[in-house]
Amino acid sequence: MKELEARIKRDGRVLGEDVLKVDSFLNHQVDPVLMHKMGQEFYEYFQDKPITKVLTVESSGIAPAVMTGLAFEVPVVFARKHKSITMNNDMYVADVYSFTKKTTNKISISKNFLSKEDHVLIIDDFLANGQAVSGLTNIIQQADATLEGIGIVIEKTFQKGRQLIDHQNIPILSLARIKAFKNGQVVFEEE
Ligand code: G4P
Ligand code: NA
Ligand code: NA
Repeated sequence: MKELEARIKRDGRVLGEDVLKVDSFLNHQVDPVLMHKMGQEFYEYFQDKPITKVLTVESSGIAPAVMTGLAFEVPVVFARKHKSITMNNDMYVADVYSFTKKTTNKISISKNFLSKEDHVLIIDDFLANGQAVSGLTNIIQQADATLEGIGIVIEKTFQKGRQLIDHQNIPILSLARIKAFKNGQVVFEEE
């Protein structure tokens, strides 16, 4: 998505080896006009799928996920994050390891909001190591629901996330694909 790439070039900041800070439009301040356009891009790509629900993880996935749900006119469910969780039969729970924080957190979704009738589109802000997507995929399996696709705002193709999910044969759309950070500049994959 050209407009997103331009925005990353203009407002993104490279931190260290592998982190892109996009606080001014995605991770802290949110640009709703851009989010809306991203929701429409995801809709155009996945519109032939019988999507009944959009799934994401709090907090930064919520904005693009809601705009995607708006385009499909389906509900959006965000998994909640917990440090630890007491056993609760009303929730689906999965582990998510954070490479940045080196901790394992649990994410959970109420059984009220995901069932075997659901056809799910996962939306997330970043695909880095793929842990968030793996956790959501695990929850979708627990619910016996159908995963129809994965939409990512910014993918870092030099990290392991794509490898982790590619073999599952699920269609993936990333709106911006970053292949490297070079001298503090973002290098995108060719289309
Ligand atoms: P993964 O889900 O792909 O495995 O992500 P990873 O463990 O590598 O990263 C943990 C958190 O850092 C996730 O957010 C993820 O979205 C975010 N992240 C990964 N790479 C980048 C990056 O280059 N820039 C920014 N800004 N974030 C990145 P989270 O902890 O779930 O936080 P949030 O959703 O509440 O913001
Ligand atoms: Na994040
Ligand atoms: Na996220």
